[in-house]
Amino acid sequence: MSARPPASSESNSGETPGADPDDPIGMRFPNLARIWNYQLGGKDNFEIDRKASDAANGLVANLGVPTGAAIALEGRHLLQRMVDYMLGQGVRQFLDLGSGLPNMASTHQIAHRAAPETRVVYVDSDPMVSAHTAALAAGRNVVTVQGDLREPGQVLGDERVRDLLDFGQPVGIIFMNVLHCLWNEEDPWGLVRRFEDATAPGSYLAISHMTTEAHPEAAEKVFQMTQDLHWDAPLLSRDRADIARLFGGFTLVEPGLVPPAQWRPDLDNPLRENEIGGGEETVLETSFAELPDDELGVGWHLCGIGVR
Ligand SMILES: C[S@@+](CC[C@H](N)C(=O)[O-])C[C@H]1O[C@@H](n2cnc3c(N)ncnc32)[C@H](O)[C@@H]1O
Repeated sequence: MSARPPASSESNSGETPGADPDDPIGMRFPNLARIWNYQLGGKDNFEIDRKASDAANGLVANLGVPTGAAIALEGRHLLQRMVDYMLGQGVRQFLDLGSGLPNMASTHQIAHRAAPETRVVYVDSDPMVSAHTAALAAGRNVVTVQGDLREPGQVLGDERVRDLLDFGQPVGIIFMNVLHCLWNEEDPWGLVRRFEDATAPGSYLAISHMTTEAHPEAAEKVFQMTQDLHWDAPLLSRDRADIARLFGGFTLVEPGLVPPAQWRPDLDNPLRENEIGGGEETVLETSFAELPDDELGVGWHLCGIGVR
């Protein structure tokens, strides 16, 4: 698996998804935010995204590996448990980077169920994500910013971010299923460090990242598919050591770096829709589909939470 971005001459005859002024939201190429939305049963996607999702699911199913839909659902359950954990540690402000299209219980809903005063900033580089999130997740204590986590200075310096979050107090920084979109050359380790440097002691870092550990052949083939079909982002699985290194100065809390199904499964509460209900936020789908038993612990990701 190459960890370097293709040179422009190698990639799509120099065409960059989304960079075409005639195609501002990148409808000509499969788009990861919309693919993830489709995998989660959402409606904010186009035929090109559905075809790419189905192709990826077919490829991994042929290798006997769980599909993107199972992985995406497992990831949303994990987000719920990780946010609940950080709330339990007293965190009342979150910076959710690469937050995705809102079609299943999102960070602010999970948090507001228990602590309505919690402040949440969503950051995503995709224009459709920021438009939908701003519309659906509008409300007190929630801000949506279209921003690129490869520009930490811009994200952290954004007035809306600084107005809502107090970086003198602990923050929960969330990178769920996004750091594998960055090439090694873009230095995901250094970028995470920039966010770490902005946080106060007592802050938390939550990461879930695709790994080569469980299904190396499928990981390589899925990566190659993202390149061949010109997805707007690569899916670069990494090994345990490279993922562990992302935590930098944060100390991993128990149970350490594990597959999502093994990360504090006792915190899972799929009946949360009963508790979230009411108020404006019910416009979002807050129910959680059951995870099929045979797809638990799929091991495509490694995840953990670190504390400063
Ligand atoms: C696979 S989705 C994950 C969404 C959500 N975090 C979740 O776990 O359900 C990855 C998201 O990261 C966003 N993304 C990819 N690269 C990004 C970057 N450099 N900066 C900000 N967002 C990015 C994509 O637009 C997409 O919405």
